[in-house]
Amino acid sequence: MNILSSRQHYYEYKTPMARILTGIQSSGEQHLGNLLGALAPAIELSQRPNNESFFFIADLHSLTSLRDGEQRKQNTHAAAAAWLAAGFDVEKNVFYRQSDLPEVNELTWYLGCFAPFPMLANAHSFKDKSDRLSNVNAGLFYYPVLMAADILLYDADFVPVGKDQKQHLEITRDLAGALNNACQQELLKLPEPLIRDEVKTVPGTDGQKMSKSYGNIINIFGPAKQLKKQVMSIITDSTALEDSKDPDNCNVVTLYKLVASPEEVAEMEDNYRKGGYGYGHAKKELLRVLTTRFAEERDRYAYWINRPKEMEDILRAGAEKARPHAENVLNRVREALGFGGMR
Ligand code: ADP
Ligand code: TRP
Repeated sequence: MNILSSRQHYYEYKTPMARILTGIQSSGEQHLGNLLGALAPAIELSQRPNNESFFFIADLHSLTSLRDGEQRKQNTHAAAAAWLAAGFDVEKNVFYRQSDLPEVNELTWYLGCFAPFPMLANAHSFKDKSDRLSNVNAGLFYYPVLMAADILLYDADFVPVGKDQKQHLEITRDLAGALNNACQQELLKLPEPLIRDEVKTVPGTDGQKMSKSYGNIINIFGPAKQLKKQVMSIITDSTALEDSKDPDNCNVVTLYKLVASPEEVAEMEDNYRKGGYGYGHAKKELLRVLTTRFAEERDRYAYWINRPKEMEDILRAGAEKARPHAENVLNRVREALGFGGMR
């Protein structure tokens, strides 16, 4: 079954042709939370006939925290394989690696000169870490400017992101407005954020938000043995097998609800209440649904992750598709700001 076919349409808006743009950081392997919370809804948007999607891997952003080049390459390939596995159509759309278009660095500089210092100092991505300034690099401070350049360089209409990125979109709009104002023309298009409020936070094996940094992930694209181990490690209470259990208070059921059909969920809830059904049974059932529902995605991931050269070709072709758009915007900005000689 295609994971997207049963999903509701998340975003309703009326534009004849819309350019959707989003980036994900190359910060490691993509887990079930990333798939349900970010990849699947973005891909669903990209499948609408009137949308054209620019999705990229934000490898430049990852340098604010990751210094190891080999690891960055691996993370980039893991992210690319996840997008391809989740069904992103790279022929219809534009799929690229941020650093393959160095034009973004030039626009970052121009925009940075329009960014008031306090605005960047107040960005959560910086502020949350600013109590230990000795550990903060200037890249982290500049992070929202680079993100604004990512978006404005391609005249994006809509930017689907999680709630945590809302402020970065506001900064993007502010910077575009400031540059337009200064140049007295509509140089840069102001993008609309599409905040994914509707998507539930996927809990990890310990019940907290699933996150690479908490060590509680379900690696939906990983090998069968690892997936089984992770599902079996979901934390439950110690109610005995024969006793009745509360389905509304169990991590296994919460996860099951996100991936199983309503009939399957009703059956599991019933089993919980009746008793004689252990958490082990429930975890096995969750594992069964995960492996059957995401069978195609898992197969595709295994295919792509072993073909780094082919993925490189896809990313490079994507960059070539993106380049004329980047050049076009950059030329407008250079011209307006008085850079470059006569053409
Ligand atoms: P992580 O927390 O594992 O480092 P990221 O911060 O790289 O994940 O997340 C990338 C995107 O995936 C985020 O924008 C967010 O929308 C989505 N996402 C991450 N974790 C979850 C989750 N547990 N539930 C729903 N969506 C998530
Ligand atoms: N900062 C985003 C995140 O951590 C990733 C990102 C970088 C992005 N550039 C972007 C998202 C441009 C949307 C648009 O999730």
